[in-house]
Amino acid sequence: MKKDTLLTHAGRDPRKYEGMVNMPVFRTSTVIFPSLEQYETREGDDFKSVRYGRHGTPTTFALEEAVAKMEGGYQAVAVPSGLAAIAAAISAFAKSGDHLLISDSVYAPTRNFCERQLRPNGVAVQYYDPLIGAGIEQLLQPDTRAIFCETPGSLTFEMQDIPAIARAAHARGLPVLADNTWGTPYFFRSFERGVDVSIHSATKYIAGHSDVMMGIIVTNDKHWLPVRKTVADYGYSVSPEDCYLALRGFRTIGVRMKQQMQNALQVARWLESRPEVKRVLYPALQGDPGYPIWKRDFDGAAALFSFVLNPVGGQAVAAFVNALELFSIGSSWGGYESLVTVARIEKYRTATEWNPGGPTLRLHIGLEDPDDLVADLERGLAKLRSV
Ligand SMILES: Cc1ncc(COP(=O)(O)O)c(C=O)c1O
Repeated sequence: MKKDTLLTHAGRDPRKYEGMVNMPVFRTSTVIFPSLEQYETREGDDFKSVRYGRHGTPTTFALEEAVAKMEGGYQAVAVPSGLAAIAAAISAFAKSGDHLLISDSVYAPTRNFCERQLRPNGVAVQYYDPLIGAGIEQLLQPDTRAIFCETPGSLTFEMQDIPAIARAAHARGLPVLADNTWGTPYFFRSFERGVDVSIHSATKYIAGHSDVMMGIIVTNDKHWLPVRKTVADYGYSVSPEDCYLALRGFRTIGVRMKQQMQNALQVARWLESRPEVKRVLYPALQGDPGYPIWKRDFDGAAALFSFVLNPVGGQAVAAFVNALELFSIGSSWGGYESLVTVARIEKYRTATEWNPGGPTLRLHIGLEDPDDLVADLERGLAKLRSV
């Protein structure tokens, strides 16, 4: 099946549910078993049968199946947030005494988790240059247990060479974990590129409408049970209503993302032409250093990128941001609406320096008409110049 067909059909079987097109919302805590024997053997499977509400209902499984199939993984598990997915996935591999390699460009709360939860518990966390590629081999130690990637970094947009990192990792039998929130299961079939455990903030494009908090971890066959058991041990559970909304959003991820990418390219190219702008950081632009890897490995790009202004003071940056009417100021991304944030990156770097030569702002481009978005940015830049 081609991927848009899969997206339409995976994770549902209307014949099983009285012809209903969508998997209904199943609510339960207790599940009742017909015999003591069946009750006592309820855990002998792959966590994919209904046994107790915390472990999921048919609504949860439908979402997990659709996402896993789209990305080319073995199975998936939904958790309460993207950060919960990161914490559980890493915890499945990092124990006291282990060495863990983390990209220096990771999402800041991932770094906080490593510093506040892992390091004090005896995990040797080491950050590496996201552009290291095959050179990661030099950093592997006898007690290295996993390599964590985020491609591209969601503020600075360095593309990581996942196949090269995976070759080095797999030669030593180590798993590659990747935050694939930007690529999504639709635009980055991460398992074909060597990822073993793929992590998503489903809050972003999967749910896609800025109204759900959720994470999803997809794994290959080999790493499914360690990850799934860690999620079970933490007691994570997601509501069936949220799973229903996330699956409803996921059905249209293809059309949304393709349109948003077109809009983002138009806005990014316009920004590149502006004298106030020093650089646009978007791997889908031909001049971007990450373009060759993006072109080789991805089927498309999320509508999330940053740009660096020529040096201006904080007041001018604030005047720009506050003048925008269509770009709202807020965390997160992946919904249908445009957003702006100022990226404060310097304090989160330890293995590499981030010094782009001007303030860095991040935009998420929504489904508005890109001509209107450009006009909005033009209004902001006029204010910036007036300060
Ligand atoms: C790249 C990336 N990963 C993970 C997360 C965390 O997701 P959530 O907000 O669903 O916990 C975010 C959220 O902004 C993100 O940008």
